[in-house]
Amino acid sequence: MPSDNGQDLTGLQRKWLDAVAQASGVETLEQVRVEALGKKGEISGLMKTLGSMSPEARKDFGARLNLLKDEVAAAIETRKATLGDAALDARLARETLDLTLPARPEQEGRIHPISQTIDEIVAIFGEMGFSVAEGPDIEDDFHNFTALNIPADHPARQMQDTFYLPQRADGSQMVLRTHTSPVQIRTMQKAKPPIRVICPGRTYRVDSDMTHSPMFHQVEGLVIDETTHMGHLKGCLIDFVRAFFGIDDLPVRFRPSYFPFTEPSAEVDIGCDRSGGELKLGKGKDWMEILGSGMVHPNVLENCGIDSTKYQGFAFGMGIERIAMLKYGIPDLRTFYESDLRWLRHYGFVPLDMPSMVGGLTR
Ligand code: DAH
Repeated sequence: MPSDNGQDLTGLQRKWLDAVAQASGVETLEQVRVEALGKKGEISGLMKTLGSMSPEARKDFGARLNLLKDEVAAAIETRKATLGDAALDARLARETLDLTLPARPEQEGRIHPISQTIDEIVAIFGEMGFSVAEGPDIEDDFHNFTALNIPADHPARQMQDTFYLPQRADGSQMVLRTHTSPVQIRTMQKAKPPIRVICPGRTYRVDSDMTHSPMFHQVEGLVIDETTHMGHLKGCLIDFVRAFFGIDDLPVRFRPSYFPFTEPSAEVDIGCDRSGGELKLGKGKDWMEILGSGMVHPNVLENCGIDSTKYQGFAFGMGIERIAMLKYGIPDLRTFYESDLRWLRHYGFVPLDMPSMVGGLTR
C-alpha cells in the first residue's frame, strides 16, 4: 500500500535483495551491507528523514522502513552463511588428502629400534598394571645419589662415571643422570603407595667404546605397597623377559648381587647357548646378565618420606639398547646413534604396527 507521503519501498526492496543475492563473495556482500545499512547507507539515510515527517507519516513510513531494514539484514545473514559454507567447502575440497593412497616407499619412515623396544616394554608392563613415569635428564645430587642410599663418600659414586655440570654459586653441581633410578625417588616423593611405575629414558656415563655409549637408555621399575615381596619381584620379571623375548620357556636365574638402593639385591640372567660361535637365547649351557633388581632399601623409602615399617616393594633397572640388541640381533651398539638410513630401513619398524599384548609385540 503506497504511503501518504508517496514513498514506495518496493523498488528499494528489490534493489537491495537482488544485490544481496548477487554478492559472489563475503567481501562483496559486506560492501552491499555498508551501502544499504551502514552509517551512510541508503536505507539508514531514509531512517534519518523520519524526524522531519508528520507523526502520521512517520508511523506508517517508519514501520515499513523498519521492515525493509530487517528484511535486508536477514537476507545478508543468510547469504553470509551460504557464502561461508561454500568457502569452507571449497577449502576442504582444495585441501583434501587421500589417506587411502599407499605411502611412497621412498618416503616411508621407520620406527627406531629404541623407540620400538620402549613401546614393547610399555605394552608388557602396561598390561600388568604399571603406568609410565618420567623425570629430568639433568639431575641434582640428591635424586641421582644421596636419596638412593649412595652417600658422598660411597664407592658407587666412582663406579658410575658421572658427567658433572659446571659448579653453581652455592658449590653444588648438577649431573646428567647416570641411571633412571632418580625417577623412583621423584615418584615416591610425589605419590602415595600403592605405586606401580616404569620409567624409561635417557641416561649418561663417561664411557665410549664398542659396547658403551656416553648416552644410552634404561628403564626403571618400581612397585611399592604393604605386601609386595621378593616372590612378586621374581614372578614379574620372569613374566616380562619371557613375553619380551617371545620365548615361553626361557630360563631365568636370580643371582645375589649388590646395589646400594636395594636389599636384598639380585641380578637377573637369561638362558642362552653360545656353542657354535653364535648366540641363541633359550635353553642352553650359558647365562647372560640382563638386569639388576632388588627389594627397595628401607633407607630409600625413608629418604622419600615413606614409612618403611609399613611399606615395602621392589625395583629393577635394565639397559634398553642391550635387550634390543639381544632380541633383534643388532651386533654393534654404536650403530643405534649413527642415523644411517640403510641401517634404519633394515632394523626399523613399520610405524602403524604399534606393539600391544593383544596385537602382538613385533611383526
Ligand atoms: N641403577 C642401576 C644401574 O644403573 C640398575 C638398577 C639395579 C636399578 C637394581 C634398580 C635396581 O632399580 O633395583 O646399574
